[in-house]
Amino acid sequence: MRMYDLIMKKRNGGVLSKEEINFIVKGYVEGSIPDYQVSAFLMAVYFKGMNKEETSNLTWAFIHSGDIIDLSPIQGIKVDKHSTGGVGDKISLIVIPLVASLGIPIAKMSGRGLGHTGGTIDKLESIKGFRTQMDIDEFIHNVNTYKMAIVGQTANLTPADKKIYALRDVTATVDSIPLIASSIMSKKIAAGSDAIVLDVKVGSGAFMKNLEDARELAQTMVDIGKSLNRRVVAVITNMDQPLGHEVGNANEVKEAIEVLKNNGAEDEKTVALTIASYMAVLGGAYNNFEEAYMNLERKIETGEALEKFKEFIRIQGGDEEVAENPEKLPEAKYHIEIKAQSEGYVNEINAEMIGNAAMLLGAGRKTKEDQIDYSAGISLVKKIGNKVMTGETIAILHTNKKEIKEAMDLVRDAYKISENQPAKVKYIYDVIM
Ligand code: URA
Repeated sequence: MRMYDLIMKKRNGGVLSKEEINFIVKGYVEGSIPDYQVSAFLMAVYFKGMNKEETSNLTWAFIHSGDIIDLSPIQGIKVDKHSTGGVGDKISLIVIPLVASLGIPIAKMSGRGLGHTGGTIDKLESIKGFRTQMDIDEFIHNVNTYKMAIVGQTANLTPADKKIYALRDVTATVDSIPLIASSIMSKKIAAGSDAIVLDVKVGSGAFMKNLEDARELAQTMVDIGKSLNRRVVAVITNMDQPLGHEVGNANEVKEAIEVLKNNGAEDEKTVALTIASYMAVLGGAYNNFEEAYMNLERKIETGEALEKFKEFIRIQGGDEEVAENPEKLPEAKYHIEIKAQSEGYVNEINAEMIGNAAMLLGAGRKTKEDQIDYSAGISLVKKIGNKVMTGETIAILHTNKKEIKEAMDLVRDAYKISENQPAKVKYIYDVIM
């Protein structure tokens, strides 16, 4: 087999066999196929796409390029969730204790934030003492005993995806549906869970900017799941503005606690309960979505979900007192208010710009090596649909940095205020299973 022939086959719209896809992935990981040939191949996939079988075979090749986590010592149906990446997305912090409170095991492997999107591991590490590294035996013990545990992704999970993702990042081939779908699903399946709920984001802060593409990505990932014997539900949710009011790390933990205390923002609570309900159905706790939703809402109202969150912090070595005293979380030195420059209704809050501004304030990483300032972030005082007066505070920046003009400009520009009152925002667009 020659890489040249396979590039040409894909360039001409041909369909690659499982053996051909394995040859490319294996050759690239081992170093026998150079970057420039894989770059050309990725561009051919970008323009010609992949059919269902090819996408499933690519996912399989990624999964088998590294470690596959064996969660079989955990009793019950292991359920995971994954978000395609958003701004202010603290849904995992809410659904882990919520679903675990039903007795469904959640063995979560999670990533760190990069660029304008945050990562669950970083957010949790803003809690003093919270450990996100543990060996597999402790991880399995915690899931069996408490029904929940989270660890940072191990180094050798899907190394082929890691290497190819880095190449996609510099060859303008990230936003290809079969490449995104196989990248995400390979990591989820290699992490060992039996069932997965995907939160597919659509809008200004997401990879998928329109609903049609989001539906195609969701369907592609559900199909990959089916072909590799995993039950997958994809919920398509709105990312036309950040979720909730807080973007950052410690401030997102505070907001997640508010949702668990039943005081959360409506968008956040709705998305969290929807994702958690599908997890509960896949995990076998309820027969249907409505029943699951009602019972999970009760878990929040009765305080059981909050108690489970405290337990989650405790078993991972963190200071559980933050749940009752959120002021124990890191706090920034400066709080700078951004004022509305005109009167009207908020029509848009560009999520990507807010994510980038939060990164500039210290809440995120430009490169993998950057250190995070857990106290940095942004509070969105006004959201889409809110009326504002000239000079009224629309957002507050939290930072320890003195030079923040660029971030201030980004936040100001992210808000579009006009006379027209926008239609009510939809939180959930569609569910694909
Ligand atoms: N997230 C991933 O893990 N991979 C992609 O390709 C895009 C988003």
